[in-house]
Amino acid sequence: TYVISQPCVDVKDKACVDECPVDCIYEGKRMLYIHPDECVDCGACEPVCPVEAIFYEDDVPAEHKDYYDANVTFFDDLGSPGGAAKTGAIDKDATLVAGLPPQNQ
Ligand code: F3S
Ligand code: F3S
Repeated sequence: TYVISQPCVDVKDKACVDECPVDCIYEGKRMLYIHPDECVDCGACEPVCPVEAIFYEDDVPAEHKDYYDANVTFFDDLGSPGGAAKTGAIDKDATLVAGLPPQNQ
């Protein structure tokens, strides 16, 4: 899977959403999250993010490595919705993200 990391927090450019062929990039309150089971590893989202927040799971930089779990745990209570268009924006964040002070301002 691909992973969205800290540079997205409080930015939410959303250019990535338009590129994803399976609509597996979901909006939380402060960042977006890639569904680890729905992502087909096409990689189309990665180059379009203007703040370079998106990485293949094996390439997440050390300083952002906790974001792998943040992307996974975001979906613990959501299961596999099968497309972000169905859910719309989701009124929560992963615990790691919810606790951050304002970012990237
Ligand atoms: Fe975030 Fe970059 Fe997408 S800022 S919403 S990961 S284009
Ligand atoms: Fe979509 Fe990016 Fe995965 S475009 S399929 S989230 S690699």
